[in-house]
Amino acid sequence: MSVHGDPIPMTARRGAALSGTAEVPGDKSISHRALILGALSVGETRITGLLEGQDVLDTAHAMRAMGAEVTHHGPGEWTVHGVGVGGFAEPADVIDCGNSGTGVRLIMGAMATCPITATFTGDASLRKRPMGRVTDPLALFGAQAVGRAGGRLPMTIVGAAQPVPVRYTVPVPSAQVKSAVLLAGLNAPGETVVIEREATRDHTERMLAGFGAEIRVEDSDEGRIITLTGQPELTPQTIAVPRDPSSAAFPVCAALIVEGSDVLVPGIGLNPTRAGLFTTLREMGADLTYENAREEGGEPVADLRARFSPDMRGIEVPPERAPSMIDEYPILSVVAAFAQGPTVMRGIKELRVKESDRIAAMADGLTACGARVETGADWMTVHGMGPGGLPGGATCATHLDHRIAMSFLVAGLAAQAPVTVDDAGPIATSFPVFEPLMERLGATFGGAERCV
Ligand code: S3P
Repeated sequence: MSVHGDPIPMTARRGAALSGTAEVPGDKSISHRALILGALSVGETRITGLLEGQDVLDTAHAMRAMGAEVTHHGPGEWTVHGVGVGGFAEPADVIDCGNSGTGVRLIMGAMATCPITATFTGDASLRKRPMGRVTDPLALFGAQAVGRAGGRLPMTIVGAAQPVPVRYTVPVPSAQVKSAVLLAGLNAPGETVVIEREATRDHTERMLAGFGAEIRVEDSDEGRIITLTGQPELTPQTIAVPRDPSSAAFPVCAALIVEGSDVLVPGIGLNPTRAGLFTTLREMGADLTYENAREEGGEPVADLRARFSPDMRGIEVPPERAPSMIDEYPILSVVAAFAQGPTVMRGIKELRVKESDRIAAMADGLTACGARVETGADWMTVHGMGPGGLPGGATCATHLDHRIAMSFLVAGLAAQAPVTVDDAGPIATSFPVFEPLMERLGATFGGAERCV
């Protein structure tokens, strides 16, 4: 379901230092997977810390439409009574995944080897995004897909009645594609093998193992080879969802660029396939420390402490790090604008097919704010203006993209003049409490202010 009504413009302006503790919500990737795997197991899965952003609520709705009993008990507390592998019922209506590429692609994978037909749609952003990357491998299992030109939603998938297992090398670094193939492989007899040349987030593999599936991961010259034995009986789990590093990125980066700040962001998932931003920030000279490192629910977790860092320098971000920070380039480009010298980001072509074309959206908005930005098909360079150096004073287009909206609001907290985003509505897809959480730290937001 789209969260999208009328646009909600919002302005951020420079104010006091940020301080205090920021308890960010649960991990979006893990939340989707917990609901889907809960729906595919037999019995009751209990989830705490589930992200209650619109993307995940849409996945909960889809799992209900396919026969699972999904119940909300209190903040972050949910149970799922699953239907078992291969047990999805045919949904009576179109499944609307709203803004969520992860939701639609994972659910398509999970139903593609069930003998049902389902039609998927989403908001204006999701309807522009390519689905062929998922339907191509799903066709190898025997599923059929009919959608709009260019493999766009709305799209109908006819699940394979007699699926065959698949060996598939993922052509782009994408955890969504990898996960769709693995979830389809669950209901195919025999072994499904997925090969990824570059390691992407591995929450699906970890969680499948937790639910009792037989899954092996080997590193080879070809890349990571993941072998899943089909048609297991998945055992329901108790899942504590760690807090989302991709959401933590916003208060962390805000603290680094707002003078005098000192912010603690506790309990953040630091799975190495997700933590690339924090490594990059430390290389830039950020005062960012990990405290109380531990393991929770099979994922590494720590408390992050971020302090104002006036000495950050631009760096070349290693392209091989891109999959582990793919959602964090928008906020990194904001930090880069407040560092000294250029920050060069290469190997980021995938940013062009996210909720928006994130290279274009960040380049346009930062340029409007007075930064010098250069871009190419798969790279972007932001020329830093030093602490407090970004002029600001612009209205930035967010293109239905939550991370673009949050990035420019963070920029406005440190820029010389206020920064307005044309629509803060999409923030509710992933970080519904962004505004009050940041305001509690001392951020100054308000309704739109007309900027030059
Ligand atoms: C996600 C994978 C990434 C990421 C998205 C979440 C996931 O997408 O950008 O926000 O949960 O699997 P891609 O698989 O398209 O890289």
